[in-house]
Amino acid sequence: EKGGYDHFMLKEIHEQPRSIRDCFRGRLNVAEGWVSLGGIKDYENKLIAAPRLIMVACGTSWHACTVGEYLIEDLARINVEVEYASEFRYRNPIITENDIVIAVSQSGETADTLAALELAKSKGATILGICNVVGSSISRITDAGSYTHAGPEIGVASTKAFTAQVTVLTLMALMLAHKKGTISESKYRTLLAELDAIPEKVQKVLDSSDKLIQDIASLYSKATNALYLGRGNCFPVALEGALKLKEISYIHAEGYPAAEMKHGPIALIDEEMPVFVIATQGPSYEKVVSNIQEVKARKGKVVAIVTEGDVHVKAMADQVIEIPKTDEHLVPLLATIPFQLLSYYIAIMRGCNVDQPRNLAKSVTVE
Ligand code: M6R
Repeated sequence: EKGGYDHFMLKEIHEQPRSIRDCFRGRLNVAEGWVSLGGIKDYENKLIAAPRLIMVACGTSWHACTVGEYLIEDLARINVEVEYASEFRYRNPIITENDIVIAVSQSGETADTLAALELAKSKGATILGICNVVGSSISRITDAGSYTHAGPEIGVASTKAFTAQVTVLTLMALMLAHKKGTISESKYRTLLAELDAIPEKVQKVLDSSDKLIQDIASLYSKATNALYLGRGNCFPVALEGALKLKEISYIHAEGYPAAEMKHGPIALIDEEMPVFVIATQGPSYEKVVSNIQEVKARKGKVVAIVTEGDVHVKAMADQVIEIPKTDEHLVPLLATIPFQLLSYYIAIMRGCNVDQPRNLAKSVTVE
């Protein structure tokens, strides 16, 4: 049942080239140049006319929403608010009939996310869902939605469901941007082709970095704290990396937008502190490089995820993990993978039960 892998989590990490591809099926056609999300087709016009979209979720799904916020705002120029479902439902939020509330949930059963949707529905908002489990409560109460089609996820730590959520949100951003005319036809075509190449690039990351990540894991498996840094759409990837490490290895980890480091967390840095940084080529590359220098000046250990062929960061970081080049909008789908493997191997080295970490349940059906 684990397909030859020692744990469900490792199996699910390795399934991602296929699960992302499954998520494209019937939705992405590069040759003909279109993206379509059948389940929400009837809501396309409403979505592009909406003054804002509100996304509600918890945990890893909240991180996926935050990647989606960057993509939808940047590509489709639609205002997006991402909310923790538990906060949203209890703070008397302002919701009107013009609002569209989108819940993102692997299980489709998370109590707070479900309750947030019920609240939005009672105020007359349109409610949509992005779920993995077919027929789940959230998929049933929503007006419409898109499934992530990642297949059953057994490991408590979400891996392939996260990349599938990011994939659906990327497809949604592209569909909205094209329909709204906020990106050029050539940019649209380039992004479709780049997105289509993501499954094989994920495979490449899995194949090329596994051994290296085991070596890196052995260097940091005894750490008591870790910091994860990223900028732009990789800030939520840093949050997700930190959550994965906390959940399964019980190492205290924090994710931060790289520039926030100097507003507090920099005080924690010493030679014992690993700092995992996403430093891929793109608009914030130079800025992240300065953040790495700040960490090195305080003797912190830097492990950087870089674009294949990078030499600059390689010269200053303690270890680098290369990922293939892709469009900057799609980097989260690749940069997530090394962090999943890293937390997996660190947890194994610490003797932890990765598939069923202590105190956690796969689906949180109580608030
Ligand atoms: O089923 P959901 O996506 O609604 O679950 C939300 C969170 O409980 C979930 O993502 C949790 O944070 C995972 N353990 C993350 O690995």
